[in-house]
This record gives sequence, structure tokens and C-alpha cells, in this order.
Amino acid sequence: MITYHGYSKIRLLNEVFGSREDISVKKKSGMSWIRYILTISAAILIIVCIALSYIDYEIMDQAKNLYNKPIEWDSSTLISFNTVQRTKPKPFFIKHPIAKDLQCAQMYGDNSKEYIQNWILPNKNVSYARSRIQYQDEKDLKMDCDSINNRSYFPVEPRTDFEAKFPLAFVRIVYTDYLFLEMELAASYTPQNSYCYMIDKKADKIFRDRIHNLTKCFPNVIATTREYDVDSAGHNVWPAFIECLYALQKFEWRYAMTLQNHDILAKTNYEIAQIFTWFNGANDVEVLNPKMDRIDTNLNWTFEGLNLFRNASKNLIGAHGLPPKLNWAKGYAESSLSREMVNFMLIELNLTTLMRQIEVKSFGIDEIMLPTLQATDALDAPGGFTHACLDKGKEIFHITRYSRWYDNTNCPTQYFRHAICIFGVEDLESLTKIPSLFINKFIPTFDFGALTCWYERLFNRTYLEEPTEEKLDKNFYLSIPYVRFQYEKLKSNGNFDPQKFNCTG
Ligand SMILES: *[C@@H]1O[C@H](CO)[C@@H](O)[C@H](O)[C@H]1NC(C)=O
Ligand SMILES: *[C@@H]1O[C@H](CO)[C@@H](O)[C@H](O)[C@H]1NC(C)=O
Ligand SMILES: *[C@@H]1O[C@H](CO)[C@@H](O)[C@H](O)[C@H]1NC(C)=O
Ligand SMILES: *[C@@H]1O[C@H](CO)[C@@H](O)[C@H](O)[C@H]1NC(C)=O
Ligand SMILES: *[C@@H]1O[C@H](CO)[C@@H](O)[C@H](O)[C@H]1NC(C)=O
Ligand SMILES: *[C@@H]1O[C@H](CO)[C@@H](O)[C@H](O)[C@H]1NC(C)=O
Ligand SMILES: *[C@@H]1O[C@H](CO)[C@@H](O)[C@H](O)[C@H]1NC(C)=O
Repeated sequence: MITYHGYSKIRLLNEVFGSREDISVKKKSGMSWIRYILTISAAILIIVCIALSYIDYEIMDQAKNLYNKPIEWDSSTLISFNTVQRTKPKPFFIKHPIAKDLQCAQMYGDNSKEYIQNWILPNKNVSYARSRIQYQDEKDLKMDCDSINNRSYFPVEPRTDFEAKFPLAFVRIVYTDYLFLEMELAASYTPQNSYCYMIDKKADKIFRDRIHNLTKCFPNVIATTREYDVDSAGHNVWPAFIECLYALQKFEWRYAMTLQNHDILAKTNYEIAQIFTWFNGANDVEVLNPKMDRIDTNLNWTFEGLNLFRNASKNLIGAHGLPPKLNWAKGYAESSLSREMVNFMLIELNLTTLMRQIEVKSFGIDEIMLPTLQATDALDAPGGFTHACLDKGKEIFHITRYSRWYDNTNCPTQYFRHAICIFGVEDLESLTKIPSLFINKFIPTFDFGALTCWYERLFNRTYLEEPTEEKLDKNFYLSIPYVRFQYEKLKSNGNFDPQKFNCTG
């Protein structure tokens, strides 16, 4: 098995935080040895430093090469199937024993409401809450690769040629509910994609070990070795995502999605590839009115003050001759970024100071950086948008993730967390109709039955039905303002005036 560990650690320490790991050289006792030890230590130190800077360079070069290379999936360069000692299984979907009696097909369609009321709740006096199947990670879950491959189907080949040529990357900050995450991985898993986990510091040891064990079973699933303290204020979310995006530079992919622990896949891989093909390089990033109390306006936010472009001359004059400073916006951290955008962020920009300056505040920090990069016209970010619509009072929402905000009349489970409705079996049918890529959220400790039946349907749609775009509303996706913006910009050959863009379509 191939594993990739510590890949981006050194680079990140140097580039993102500008610091270096301590290199401690142990001292030995004994007077006569001191000179000898010191000489050897100095030599080792020099060798280590050279090695570090070499690794740094190599990764940088690699990233640069990828940037200039047309992306074409080639299984031989990335994933050697020979190294994955697995026979080619037939697709299968097995329910966890505690959910084995669920008749998932009945949870969908016109009669589902009645079915759920009568079957899940044989007696209507029994509350939904008491009849749900709830699951907490077992202590003795088997974690060898065989067992993992027996619990869920992980294909060894792309489902279609179309998908093979449009690999995706999934970046996820995780801290809890391991088995659910394994099921979620299986739902989107295909060998041309790549997956990176950032483990939140608050995760317990067994969870952390399980994630690391999981990564050992698939060459395209990695976890970074560093852990971040992610809190509800959003601290460290972007430094964590950025570390994963660095680590994923060695894989080929066209779009990357930044996700949190309980974001649940809502579309098949084929459908996501189809939606991003329509996006044509545009990023799915929200551009909403920023709350200025989330930003320390006393700091210097000019490109020069932020040392934003690595090429210093680009910090002096913005694209289209605009003033080289940021235009604020906010939006959810869950986003879908084109490869070009990620490369722009990692290779052309230096986000160190920007991230540091954003991190000083104490609320909603994760919602600032990306929307601002997306909306700053002076940056002209690949697949980016404009601030012009926000200036005219038009906010742009995303499709990467669907959430239903606190509303007693529109949350059948009546269960909320941080003012977000948590979904259950009674929501399955309605969730089949949303255009978003992910759902926020199901929780296994609340309704594992809902999760199981959601994944069974996704499995059927992925493997038992012919992949198709028919269930997608193409016009909806093409009419999203940032998608139209992207088409108009590409068509104009650089003479495009964002101020003239029709924000309402
Ligand atoms: C990125 O910016 C930080 C802070 O200004 C700086 O210490 C670091 O050297 C920069 N990295 C590169 C590669 O320019
Ligand atoms: C998935 O397909 C299997 C096999 O055809 C079927 O038994 C099951 O009811 C289907 N599940 C859903 C949710 O449609
Ligand atoms: C269920 O509710 C109905 C009417 O609200 C009541 O008549 C009946 O006794 C209840 N049954 C139980 C088992 O509580
Ligand atoms: C996995 O499934 C195969 C085929 O059913 C079986 O032979 C093998 O023992 C299973 N492995 C584990 C670890 O459960
Ligand atoms: C992870 O795998 C190693 C060796 O394969 C095993 O010793 C360890 O118990 C596993 N960890 C967990 C949490 O299952
Ligand atoms: C921001 O920093 C740049 C570069 O250090 C400096 O030239 C500029 O005057 C600063 N702007 C403000 C408003 O402090
Ligand atoms: C830096 O940017 C300037 C202005 O866009 C450009 O002329 C120059 O070639 C760039 N330098 C490098 C090393 O890319």
C-alpha cells in the first residue's frame, strides 16, 4: 500500500506561517565529547536545512508543473492499481445490522409520508425522536483494509469515461462519527478522485487512529499529519483547508470542494462532474454582505501591506488598473474551487499575512477570506466574480451545500443545532429535489436510518442506474450569476466590464 504522510508539513510551516519547526539536537554528556558533538550537530543541522529547502523547492516545482499541464486523467501516473491488492468486487450495498430492516425504497416517492408515519411510527403517539435508529461509533470496529472494503463498496475503476476525465478533490475537516465518514467516503469514492482529511485537534485518539488507518487503504485518500484547533468561531478553518489543498497538489483534479464533518453528499459523482463542466471554471463561492465587525479595519489590507502576490510588482497595481486592495464579502466556507483558482491561491498568492490578519477576530472568521478573494475585482481571480453585484445590493448564494435555517414550520424533525435544522427520514424525499451538492446535515447519533437510506439511494443511482444528467436542471446551473459572469468574461477576451454585468440575469 502507498501512503503519503507529512507531505505538506514542512512547506506549510515555512510558507503559510513563516515559521520553522524546531530542530532539536540532543546534547550528550562528557566533557571530551563536547567539541565532537557540536561539530556533528552543526553538520547535521546544515544537512537538515539543505534538505528542508530542497523539499520545499521540489514541492513548489511540482505545483508549478501541474499548473501548466493540461489535466487529463491517466491512471498509470497516479494510482497504480497493482499496488492496491484488491480484486474487482461487484457493487454492493450492505446496511449496518442495526438498520438492516429499513425498507429504504419506501422512504421515497409519493407515498413516503404515509409509509414513514405508519411504519416507522406504528403508533402515532410515539414521537419520531423515540423511534429513530441512532448510532454511535462502536469500540471494536474492525479497521483492517479488508474489513473496510467489506463494509462498503469502493470501486477500483471510474464509473464512466466522462468521470475519469473530470477528477474531483474532496477536502474535509473532521472530528467525529468515523463510520459515517467511511460511508460518506464510499458514497463519492472513485479512484480518479482524491480525498484529504484535516483532523481537528478536539478529535479523540481512537477517531484519529481510524482516519489514519482508513487512509492506508487507498492511495488517493490522505490525511495531513498536523492538526488544527478549529472552533465555532471558525478559527483555523482556512489554514486547515489550505494545508489539505497543498497536499492534494500532487493529484490531478479539476475542482476541489471544501467541506466540514457532517456535510453529506447529495449528488452522484457523475452529476457533480457534469455540474462543474457547466460551471466552466467558475468557482462556487458565496458573495454576501460582510459584517464589518468581523474584520479589523485598523490593519493594512492593501495588496502591498498583505504581501499578497508573490510577485511584488503585482501588489502595486490591481487588475484593470483598480486600486490594489481587498473588497470585503462573506459567505460559507463550503465552496467548490476550480483547479486554476486553487493554484492561483497557492502559487501566485501568499496568503500568510491575510490569514493571520483575519484570524485576530473572534466570530465568523472562516467566512471572510474566500468570498473576499472571489469578489475583489482588482485580483481578477480565475473563476472569480465581482463586487459590483454586492455594491448594487445583490447577494450571491452558493450551491455547494444546502442548509435549512431555523424555522419551526419547515423542519419536520423539530431538531436544531446552531439554528440549523437536522434532517431525518421524513426529509429524504424532499432532499432529492435540491440542486445543492451536499446537505447540512444528517447526524448518525440522531437519525442513522435516514443516513443509511440516503446512501442506499445514492448507491442505486450511482451503480444500478445509467449515469445521466437528466435529473439535473441545466438551466438553473447555467443561470447562476457567477457562471454567467464566467462565460461572459471568457467570451470577451479581456475587455469585460464587471460594472455592466447584469446581476439579476
Ligand atoms: C509569505 O508571507 C510571509 C509573511 O509576509 C513571509 O514571511 C513569507 O516569506 C512569504 N513566503 C513567500 C514564499 O513569499
Ligand atoms: C436499491 O436497489 C435495490 C435493488 O434493486 C432495491 O431493493 C432497493 O429498494 C433500492 N433502494 C432504494 C432506496 O431505491
Ligand atoms: C394515543 O392518542 C390517542 C388520542 O390522542 C389516545 O386516545 C390514546 O389513548 C393514545 N394511546 C396511547 C397508547 O397513549
Ligand atoms: C471480506 O469478505 C470476503 C468475501 O466475503 C471474506 O472472504 C473475508 O473473510 C472478509 N474479510 C473480513 C476481514 O471480514
Ligand atoms: C490501525 O491499524 C493498525 C495496524 O494495521 C492496528 O494495529 C490499529 O489497531 C488500527 N487502529 C484502529 C483504531 O483500529
Ligand atoms: C500598507 O502597507 C504598505 C506596504 O508596507 C504601505 O506602503 C502603505 O502605506 C500601508 N497603508 C496603510 C494605509 O497603512
Ligand atoms: C511580475 O509581474 C510583472 C507585472 O505583471 C511582470 O512583468 C513580471 O514578468 C513578473 N515577474 C515574474 C518573475 O513573473
